[in-house]
Amino acid sequence: MKFNILTLFPNMFPSMLGESLAGKALERGDWSFNTVNIRNFATDNHKSVDDTPYGGGAGMVMRPDIIERALLSVPDQGRKIYLSPRGKVLNQALAKELSQEENLTLLCGRYEGVDQRILDAHNFEEISIGDYVLSGGEPAAMILMDACIRLLPNVMGNADTADNESFGENINGLLEYPHYTRPAEWTDTKSVTHSVPEVLKNGDHAKIDEWREEQSIKITKKIRPDLL
Ligand code: ADE
Repeated sequence: MKFNILTLFPNMFPSMLGESLAGKALERGDWSFNTVNIRNFATDNHKSVDDTPYGGGAGMVMRPDIIERALLSVPDQGRKIYLSPRGKVLNQALAKELSQEENLTLLCGRYEGVDQRILDAHNFEEISIGDYVLSGGEPAAMILMDACIRLLPNVMGNADTADNESFGENINGLLEYPHYTRPAEWTDTKSVTHSVPEVLKNGDHAKIDEWREEQSIKITKKIRPDLL
């Protein structure tokens, strides 16, 4: 899978995606990325990429002509995505769908955003990573990339781990049940002893599955009732 990233801050990449599982997958060539510095496509002496908004108001808007030249420098664009708080909110189903693409082109905006005409002229899909505003699209692009990369074949150690997690297919889109490991009895620094639930220790997998499902429903009711 290849990500083309149109940005004013190419040095922000690969950031955390160069570490851990995503970093190893990058070294193996399971995924790759190509940053395009939008500023390289500016034509004036100041290399300016933005201008004041028509109609007035705060902030600066990135120019469509410059972004288009940056975009056209990418040979295999695939689906074109503009990261924006106005977009459709990223979820696990969308991450899975995007992870099956060969190429994605991610446009990261700064300032007040980009001129609407570049989005219309080149059919960008707008995707948000949640209902809050970041100072630019780059961290959102990284999050979208991470959500896709971990779903690529060979990237996760245990083949079915991804399906057991929160929003995964095996637990009906609910939040994940709690996890425990050794020690079976753990005394914290306030001298309180915490035990691992008995059901997880007796090897009855039907009972364990049942307990995990109950826990999933309980935690989802409490934290994210909208998922039920
Ligand atoms: N750019 C700024 N805020 C964003 C968000 N919430 N999601 C995606 N891109 C953004």
